[in-house]
Amino acid sequence: MNPYILANKAAWNLLAKDHYLEFKRRYSLKDNLLSPDIIKELGDIRGQSLIHLQCNTGSDTLSLSRLGATVSAVDLAPDNLIYAKKLFDDFKTSGTFYEADLMEFGDTHSQKYDIVFTSEGAIGWLPDFNKWAQTIKKLLKPGGFFYLYEIHPFFLMFDEDAFPNQELNIKYPYFGRQMDRSETIGGYAAQTRQGVSYYWMYSISEVVNALINAGLKIEFINEFDHLCYNAGNMIETKPGEYQFQKWIGKMPLMFSIKATL
Ligand SMILES: C[S@@+](CC[C@H](N)C(=O)[O-])C[C@H]1O[C@@H](n2cnc3c(N)ncnc32)[C@H](O)[C@@H]1O
Repeated sequence: MNPYILANKAAWNLLAKDHYLEFKRRYSLKDNLLSPDIIKELGDIRGQSLIHLQCNTGSDTLSLSRLGATVSAVDLAPDNLIYAKKLFDDFKTSGTFYEADLMEFGDTHSQKYDIVFTSEGAIGWLPDFNKWAQTIKKLLKPGGFFYLYEIHPFFLMFDEDAFPNQELNIKYPYFGRQMDRSETIGGYAAQTRQGVSYYWMYSISEVVNALINAGLKIEFINEFDHLCYNAGNMIETKPGEYQFQKWIGKMPLMFSIKATL
């Protein structure tokens, strides 16, 4: 395994229990935790086989199951999968979970699905988008589709430490898939912990072109003015949707893609 991915595996393990507890708490308040954008854009998925890539502790996977899909999921960190199975057991739901590095998963996994799904803070952990897109293609049945709901790379350029002061300072280059090393991990649904992790910046064109080059047909790409978590001093404009007071409706914070095989 790539040494950077090995480090990420150890780092993500550190957050698994916190994520499980937080998502379990959220499910005690609400039946479905998926963003309304996702629910609208996915459409009716009842009876479809679906694989969730980079599932973390299975929170979005559980919501996808509640929309009626037969769910499978894959993640790098073994502790994430232990807690994903626990979350499914807690809510008496069935799902199939695989532990794998997504950069290698497609080499051995031969099952195919109607839908391949990825959401919120996932793809920047992957160093090679061409391999990623080829894996998605391998996992899809003919006529199936890939759906991505992800943080907009425009937003990822800015220094996160300046967000609480409502300042946008460019820190990370948009172009070139530069790798960033961080001493900590966490923040969106868990306490930040000490643990070295590596993240690769991406551009919209790199993501779209990788899917096109793998042979998928882009059905749509959409951009959204809200973020899926509070990055610091943001306001919740709708449940689960966050924006900076200063720039409401003015900047892209999430994007989505649907691509078919
Ligand atoms: C921010 S989380 C995604 C959260 C997700 N939206 C959910 O449903 O909770 C990113 C996930 O990517 C996983 N990951 C990182 N690198 C990976 C890799 N090379 N292969 C598979 N999973 C990976 C991490 O373990 C982590 O669970």
